Amino acid sequence: MCGIVGFNGNQQAAPVLLEGLSKLEYRGYDSAGIAVFNQNEVEIVKAKGRLKSLMEKTNDGQSVNGTCGIGHTRWATHGEPSEDNAHPHISFHEKIVTVHNGIIENYQELKDRLLKEGYIFYSQTDTEVATNLIEFYYLKNKDPLKAISEAMMRIRGSYALAVMMKDYPDQIFVARKDSPMILGVSNQESYIASDVPAILKYTRNVYYIGNLEMACLKKGSISFYNLDGEEIEKECQEIKWDAQAAEKGGYEHFMMKEIHEQPKAVEDTLNSIIKDNQIVLDLEGLDISNLSQIHFVACGSAWHVSMACQYIFEDLTHIPVRVELASEFRYRNPLLSKKDLVIVISQSGETADSLAALRLAKEKGIPTLAIVNVLGSSIAREADYVLYTLAGPEISVATTKAYSAQLVLGYVLAIYFGKEKGLLEEEKVRYYLSELNTLPKKIERVLEDKERLQWFASKYSNAKDVFFIGRGIDYAISLEGSLKLKEISYIHSEAYAAGELKHGAISLIEDGTLLIGVCTQSQLYEKTISNMVECKSRGAYLMAVAPYGYYQIEDTANFTTYIPRIDEHFIGSLAVIPLQLLAYYLSVSKGLDVDKPRNLAKSVTVE
Ligand code: F6R
Repeated sequence: MCGIVGFNGNQQAAPVLLEGLSKLEYRGYDSAGIAVFNQNEVEIVKAKGRLKSLMEKTNDGQSVNGTCGIGHTRWATHGEPSEDNAHPHISFHEKIVTVHNGIIENYQELKDRLLKEGYIFYSQTDTEVATNLIEFYYLKNKDPLKAISEAMMRIRGSYALAVMMKDYPDQIFVARKDSPMILGVSNQESYIASDVPAILKYTRNVYYIGNLEMACLKKGSISFYNLDGEEIEKECQEIKWDAQAAEKGGYEHFMMKEIHEQPKAVEDTLNSIIKDNQIVLDLEGLDISNLSQIHFVACGSAWHVSMACQYIFEDLTHIPVRVELASEFRYRNPLLSKKDLVIVISQSGETADSLAALRLAKEKGIPTLAIVNVLGSSIAREADYVLYTLAGPEISVATTKAYSAQLVLGYVLAIYFGKEKGLLEEEKVRYYLSELNTLPKKIERVLEDKERLQWFASKYSNAKDVFFIGRGIDYAISLEGSLKLKEISYIHSEAYAAGELKHGAISLIEDGTLLIGVCTQSQLYEKTISNMVECKSRGAYLMAVAPYGYYQIEDTANFTTYIPRIDEHFIGSLAVIPLQLLAYYLSVSKGLDVDKPRNLAKSVTVE
C-alpha cells in the first residue's frame, strides 16, 4: 500500500514527483503530498483525496521550487485519510522529513518512548513515529546513515522509507524492509519509486535495494549500505518494459485496456515457456516425480487461479493439491513435508501475506516456486524457483490480464509435471500445447461479443445481489467473476459451488435476482443446469456462460453468452472474459471509478 517517489537532479522536482505519483495512484489514493528542498528549507504540500487535489494546490507542481524532493500517495493504515495524516511527515525538531510505505508494528511502543523524550505528535500515523525516531538518533550521533540504521534496528514491521535531512539538502536517504522500492539513475539524476511505471519515462536503469539496506541518492549517483553502514556493491539492471504499456492507449480505463491485452499476455507467457513445441522451464533440482503434495498459496484473484489449478493439477499429475489463502496459511502452522512443494502465485510479488507464507515454507525447508508478474519483486527474489507471467505492468486495481497469464502458466506447469511423472505421453503433451496455442485467438473472439454484455449490464446496474454458480473449474471461475463484480461495481455478489446453494444461500434468491451459471464442463453441465432451474423456479433471472454448440441451454437461461470450444481443462480462460466484461460495464454504467475502486489498493503490502 502507498506509493513513494523521490527525485534528485537538475530539473524542477515537483512536476517529476507528481508525474511519478500519478503512475502509483493505484497503490493508494486517499491523500498525497510532496516535500521539496528549496535552498536549505523544505517546502511540504499535502492534500486529502485524489492526487488531483495536490496538483491543483501546487499548480501542477509549478508553485514548488527546488530540484530534490520526495512524494507519496497514501492508502490509510494508521489514522483516517486526512491532511494531517498525509505524508510527508516532518519531525518535531524539523530536521527530518519522510515518506513511508509499509506498517510499523511496534509504533505505539516507540511513540511512548519518544513522548517521554518530549516529542509531540501531530498525526496518528506510524510514519511520524519513524520520522521522529530517526531524528532522535540523528540529534545524538549527527550521522545520517547511523541514525537511520539505529531506527531500523528498533522498528518492527515493514517499510520503504525515503528520508530528507535538513542538514543534507542535496541528498535523499532511503531504507527498506519488506516493502517494494526501486532506485533509478540517468544522466545526473536519481529516482526513487515503489514501482517501475513511476520512473519509466525518465530511466530504465534501476537498482533493487535489498532488505535491511540503505542508500544515499545524490544527483546521478546512488550508494548502497548495509545496516552497519558499510558500502555495498549493486548491479544496475535494465527494465525492458515498454513505457507505452503503462499508459491507457486510447481506452477509457486501464481495466478495459488490460482486458484487451489478455490475448497478448497469454501469448507472451506461453511463448516464454514453450519453445519448438517443448516446455522449457528452469526447475533444476526439483524432484517432481516424488512430490507428495502441492500447496498453492495466494490471495484474492491469485487464490482463484490456484483453485482452478487444483482441478487441473490433480487431473494431469495425480499429485494431491491443497489450495490455501496466504493469510490463513501463515498463521496455522501448516503440516508440510520435505517432499511437498509450495507454489505462491502473486501478480505484484509484494503481497504481504503471500510473502510471509513463502518465508514460512522456506523456514520449514520446503521447496518453493513462485509465479509472479513483477520482475525483481520480493516474492520473485526469495522463492527457490520463479516463473514469470509476461502480462506487463497491470495498473487497474482489479486484475484481469495478470490473472489470465497466471492461469496459463498454471496449465503449462501441470502439463510439465504430468509429463515428468510419466503420466502424459509426448502425443498428449503436444495435443495440450496445440490447444493452448489457440487460446489468444479464442480470447479475441470472446472480446468481439462485448457489446452484448454492455447491453446486458445496462439492465442490471440497480441489482442488489448477484450469484455465480459452477462446478469444478467452473466454480473457480465463478469465484473470480463474483470478485470482479463486487470489487468494481459495489454490487453484493457471491459465488457458490452449484450443488451447495441449496444448503442455505438459495433462501436469498427472490424475484429478479440475477444468477449466473458457468457451464463449460460437459460432465457437470447437466448438474449445474438443474441447480439453475431450481433458482429460476424461485424467481431468479438466469444468465449462462457456455461453449458454442450447447444451444439447448436457451431452454433454461434467459441470456446466454457463448465461448469458443477448447480442451475443457483450459476453457476457464475463456469463460472468465465475459464475466470481466460484465463487471466492467456494470461499474461504468454506475459511474464508478473502475480503475481505483474505493477502499482498495493494487498491491497489498500490509497483512
Ligand atoms: C482482485 C485483485 C486482488 C489480487 C490480490 C493478490 O482483482 O487484484 O484480489 O489478486 O490482492 O495480489 P497479488 O497477485 O499481487 O499477490
